[in-house]
Amino acid sequence: MNNKRICVYLMLMVLILIDTRLINAQLRSRTVDTFSPDGKVYIGVDYYPEHWPKERWEYDIQLMKKAEFNVVRLAEFTWVLLEPSEGHYEFGWLDEVLALLNKYDIKAILGTPTAVMPAWVARKYPETLALQQDGTRIHWGVRKNNCFSSGTYRLLSERITRAMAEHFKATPNVIGWQTDNEFSGPYCHCNTCRASFQDWLREKYGTLENLNRSWGTHFWGHKIQAWAEIMIPDYTGDGTWGISGNPSACLDWKRFHSWLNVRFQADQVKILREVCPHHFITHNFMGLHERLNYYDLAEDLDFVSWDNYPVWGKPAIPYIASMAGDVMRGLKSKNFWIMEQTAGPSGWGTFWRNPRPGEIRKICYQQIAHGADAQIWFRWRTCTAGREQYWHGLLGHDGKPLRRYKEAAQVANEYRILEKYLQGTTLKPEVAIIYDYESMWSLESQPGFHGNDYQKAISRYYDALFRNGINVDMIRPDANLTPYKLVIASDLVLLPDDMARSFDSFVKQGGVLLTDCRSGVKDGNNLCHERTLPGLLAPALGIEIEEYDSMYDFEYKVIGTDQMSGTFTATNYCDWITTKKAESLASFDEWHMKSFAAVTRNQYGKGKGWYVGTVIKEDAFYDQLISQLLADAGISPLAIPPEGVEISIREGNGNKLLFVVNHTEDKKTVTVPRGKIELLSQKKISDTIELDNYGVAIIIL
Ligand code: GLA
Ligand code: ZN
Repeated sequence: MNNKRICVYLMLMVLILIDTRLINAQLRSRTVDTFSPDGKVYIGVDYYPEHWPKERWEYDIQLMKKAEFNVVRLAEFTWVLLEPSEGHYEFGWLDEVLALLNKYDIKAILGTPTAVMPAWVARKYPETLALQQDGTRIHWGVRKNNCFSSGTYRLLSERITRAMAEHFKATPNVIGWQTDNEFSGPYCHCNTCRASFQDWLREKYGTLENLNRSWGTHFWGHKIQAWAEIMIPDYTGDGTWGISGNPSACLDWKRFHSWLNVRFQADQVKILREVCPHHFITHNFMGLHERLNYYDLAEDLDFVSWDNYPVWGKPAIPYIASMAGDVMRGLKSKNFWIMEQTAGPSGWGTFWRNPRPGEIRKICYQQIAHGADAQIWFRWRTCTAGREQYWHGLLGHDGKPLRRYKEAAQVANEYRILEKYLQGTTLKPEVAIIYDYESMWSLESQPGFHGNDYQKAISRYYDALFRNGINVDMIRPDANLTPYKLVIASDLVLLPDDMARSFDSFVKQGGVLLTDCRSGVKDGNNLCHERTLPGLLAPALGIEIEEYDSMYDFEYKVIGTDQMSGTFTATNYCDWITTKKAESLASFDEWHMKSFAAVTRNQYGKGKGWYVGTVIKEDAFYDQLISQLLADAGISPLAIPPEGVEISIREGNGNKLLFVVNHTEDKKTVTVPRGKIELLSQKKISDTIELDNYGVAIIIL
């Protein structure tokens, strides 16, 4: 090769390298970065310009700008305005809004508007409306009302999505899309759904023999002899299932309904990716909503967003908002956005408490502390009309920028200080809680014992971890457990063998596992395992459960040993546990229960398997249990916060930030590592920090 050739060759190589690096960077930013490309955090409002006269728009946007907002979400309920009749589009009004926003350098996320069908859709294509169990169609005029199997609805949804994507793909300040709005929707009982359910089952099971075996249709002579015989299970909506409510069929129906939503979203995502490859795609999830498998719904998206409304009655510690934030982060194992954040008193018919001074800000920091990278308040201004007249925005009906607006502006201002520290940080917990939609669904139709509720069961441990100052990852049941030292699998009624084996090897290799009542009772088809409980977990837990008891209207006294010292109250349920290899850490006082353990611990391989065989009333029990588990796992909290104060750590990119959030209306003193800087005040602190009511501190560790 002569020199010239070598030069050209080298230049080509460099170009290829640069190109691959650029592509990789783009891919990385698609998969990792929930910040804006310029390193600014997004903060803004859900804006409904269509609710107000045009003359008001610019003033609204100026106010947003003044508050340092840099993003809005728009248009998710405007299908009829964008497509007033079939195939006839009117995007002009939205162009005008977007141009005005652009003038003030405010970016926009557009909602595909398919959560509310225009009246013309319902009139022309009545089959697009979901059919209720009593055979009547949901009438037009409510929100979510469509059948997700309807080919017509899918087609109409694809058309408006494509038309919007084509029209707005080059609009400079459009940065991303929200699919639909809060997916879920009613169970539809129409013939298309039924046929589609049958097809889905055929795809899944292949043969009727397989289906019959997997559903256990030998019971009550419910053998299915042709695919067309399969009914939609009788769901009465109050947690009980009718006669055709075979538990395995019910579970598959829920899986199918979830899949329908996921498929509907996928149709839109495909178009958006094709037409607007430079835009991100997200969806506004509903936190602890149970009806969809959110892991599946999140799969196609760039990142998860969610709608957070924690202010209702009298002030209480919002454990649930933290847990929901962690569930949202767990869906894609990455940070998330808040797409709708509490901005005022909420309610449709009656409204609830007005957030107190400082509370709106505190709500934001709680979410930032759990991985929120953007805050968008719902809504900008309280609407004077419609069902949500009382769902208050930052501005009231009068449109004046008052207290709530100023507080949001304060957060936006503080974000400007924070963003360079926040970027690239997330939570890196050593503790995980398994969060399984399928166990939730199984328990919804068959709780087993009175009061058995999946979220409540998990909360008992989650809340105690929160009180102990420990961050948690909420993870899918088949997740890799190796990053964790402690894994809690509570109320995990569905335990397929693979999962049990993964728990077993986690313990064997040195992990600490805690599981409890009803875990592992069934297989993935919702059929009871034939093994004596705890089945495949027996070696790791070192116990045998001979019988069990539902304690609907009676309680037992539980007496702890040294390591779980105290007397506690067992309620709702108890396993009759015989310790085989395990030690008993608490036992029952009741005459027929004296030989059984309530709490056990077992050394297995390099790790420990814990089991709690009842539901205990007192928080003190769970607090003690958690500190024992942490000790076994070798995890020590950075600080134990006082009651009502939450701590959380975000780290990465060379930064480690300790968030301290006061959820109470009292002043609190919190012990923290000595001599560090508090970011918002830029002050050096000693080993304690004083927090005002609803006060927040962020300490650089
Ligand atoms: C949800 C929706 C919003 C609005 C609020 C308040 O989160 O996504 O459109 O309806 O609830 O009700
Ligand atoms: Zn249907």
